[in-house]
Amino acid sequence: MDNATQRLIEAMTLEEKASLCSGLDFWRTKPIKRLDIPSIRLADGPHGLRIQAGGSDHLGLNNSIPATCFPTEVALSCSWDEELIRRVGVALGRECRAQNVALLLGPGVNIKRSPLCGRNFEYFSEDPFLSSALAAAYINGVQSQGVGTVIKHFAANNQETRRMSVDVNVDERALHEIYLASFETAITQAQPWGVMCAYNKVNGTFASENAELLTDVLRNTWQYDGIVVSDWGAVNDRAAALDAGLELDMPGNDGRSDQRIIDAVNNGLLSTAVLDRAVARLLKLIRRATTEQPQVPALDMDKHHLLAREAASESIVLLKNDTDLLPLPSSGNFAIIGELAKNLRYQGSGSSRVNPTKIDTLVQELQRAGGSALFHYSAGYRLNSEQIDLSLLDEAVILASKSDAAILFLGLPDDYETEGVDRNHLCIPATQVALIEAVSQVQDNIIVVLSNGSPIEMPWVVTPKAIIESYLGGQAMAAALADILFGHVNPSGKLTETFPERLEHTPCHLNFPGTSECVEYREGVFVGYRYYDKKGIEPLFSFGHGLSYTSFEYSSLKLSHEQILDSDQLEISVTVKNTGKRAGKEIVQLYVSDTESSLIRPDSELKGFKKIALEPGESKQVSFSLNRRAFSFYDPKVHDWHLESGWFEVLIGRSSRDIVARAPVEIVGQQRPISPIHANSTIGDILKHPALVPFFNDWLESLSEKGNVLKMLRNGEPWMEELTLQLPLRTQSDYSEKAPNRQELQCLIDSLNHLLQQQQG
Ligand code: BGC
Repeated sequence: MDNATQRLIEAMTLEEKASLCSGLDFWRTKPIKRLDIPSIRLADGPHGLRIQAGGSDHLGLNNSIPATCFPTEVALSCSWDEELIRRVGVALGRECRAQNVALLLGPGVNIKRSPLCGRNFEYFSEDPFLSSALAAAYINGVQSQGVGTVIKHFAANNQETRRMSVDVNVDERALHEIYLASFETAITQAQPWGVMCAYNKVNGTFASENAELLTDVLRNTWQYDGIVVSDWGAVNDRAAALDAGLELDMPGNDGRSDQRIIDAVNNGLLSTAVLDRAVARLLKLIRRATTEQPQVPALDMDKHHLLAREAASESIVLLKNDTDLLPLPSSGNFAIIGELAKNLRYQGSGSSRVNPTKIDTLVQELQRAGGSALFHYSAGYRLNSEQIDLSLLDEAVILASKSDAAILFLGLPDDYETEGVDRNHLCIPATQVALIEAVSQVQDNIIVVLSNGSPIEMPWVVTPKAIIESYLGGQAMAAALADILFGHVNPSGKLTETFPERLEHTPCHLNFPGTSECVEYREGVFVGYRYYDKKGIEPLFSFGHGLSYTSFEYSSLKLSHEQILDSDQLEISVTVKNTGKRAGKEIVQLYVSDTESSLIRPDSELKGFKKIALEPGESKQVSFSLNRRAFSFYDPKVHDWHLESGWFEVLIGRSSRDIVARAPVEIVGQQRPISPIHANSTIGDILKHPALVPFFNDWLESLSEKGNVLKMLRNGEPWMEELTLQLPLRTQSDYSEKAPNRQELQCLIDSLNHLLQQQQG
């Protein structure tokens, strides 16, 4: 703590200190006028600014002042473009500055554990490496404008059902490798000014009062120096939360939580040092927010709209394009079918809901992009009705039959996915399925354009020739879609989550959203593609999948070393060529596979990605650099990341399931700490240590003939060998005539452990 802060804190009364630790109202901190401490303003996030001019709430019920509605995080992530996301962050930061917002409540980086989570559209990915890298870009962009970000919701907030009380039971390895890793790079490398704690409990303790998360991991391991703010209403016990490392309780509650702090200090239940530490962090935040801010140019909302359009264009994913039906020619008759074409769904509901500055309309944009093409519209279904409307269906079928192609705009109604509620199935409304079916009777050229915030099942996937996933693409989504349909933009987005064929195939199907008060993360680290790969389940569309109107060829994968020490960097390069006739962008994906591991690991894990632009015929070399963390796993035995010696493979892919090149590398690292031998160690456990074999064999020889395990091992029958290797050591005092007694057995165990220690040095 610097001297000025120290003096300021000394000048503060207990009441004043406590007052800094909760909000003035829904969105502001409390000022202390006597000491010239100003109030600062917070606002939602993540994909646009939500400032309510009238009544405040955290569910987006009341309208907010207009702001650019960028593509939601799920869409933005499909661009895999850190620079683009940084620029979106810059624009968000500028809009914040114009409204005097000091802290933007985003990005959201919770892992998409299940596609059913109602808030998945606010999160980046099922993969922690990708999610954290994109979040870092967002944070860097916003914070370059002198506005802080608040990364959320820390941690393991992966469902909406009972979100304010559910107890997430997650093992230590999965917590670190998947759920915390999604925050880690963003926090350690981009240093957001704030971290928002989650509502839920993690392994029995509310995230808001979880010292392991808020202090051990965040402060001690990651060296985080910002503040922790509660999710709105997440504090269960104010003193416990402060003690665990939560500085700011939001929203304001008329000083009630301040009084709890004062009482706890007066009763000796909370130390003044803990309160002073929190106050020092809050003062630092306020200083950051009110001084040292860069000059920001005047706002140009048209420019931001164009950026929203660029971001949407880069994010749209072409899932399927049989017979190269797309792009469409700029002449012909096209049927535009579906109520969603009139009212494109471009964002989700809840606290992230933005009041857009303007909205591109599809019909106008198609006319602009389609040259002399003609468009006719038919609703086909009613979005908010589960009943099939036969007259609408007939009208759509007649229109489709007279057109060169039918473009069906389908997806999820607003109330299917929203903050606070999870879905319980992955289907689009039956009215839309009926539409695909009916139109396919009269028209072969069907293009489906989807607006949804999370995967859907597509039992009808073979029917349309082309499928475009546009997710919830923000206020300029219509222009971006029209550009892609007519080939003014070559699609380059790729999925950042797996589309399962059926809900039953999803990794946590048996444990989502949990029973009663608890949800068990029994799938462990096998989340998203890590699960489908390991189980050999064919997804509908895999993680990393996305097509282009051009084609790319990969060659010359090179690794800087065939063998590296665990402290070395591994440099990787691969050449990509555009072999088609159009300029396009490719997202090159690098996965690492641990081919010999002492614990079960995913088949492959994303550890690098780059998006590159290539003219027809052009080649580029793409380079990656991997450090020890790229090969490590989180080892619960040592409560830390561990890099194990052995062989690995570096894989280059167009997607997680389309690996185009691979190369081996040997890492000379460490061995996992060896577990000591005990009475229930098996014969096999002991014999796998070469240093123990001669001594242990001699000891076995000294036992009697009858039931001698050496004889059993040498018997030549594989099953007998297998069975013998699994015998616990203690059985040797039961099976043999010259059975060693317990004391003699303990002597043996001590000698074996002594040999092991000698071997470890
Ligand atoms: C949400 C947060 C949001 C906050 C303020 C909560 O309900 O979970 O993500 O930032 O409200 O609106």
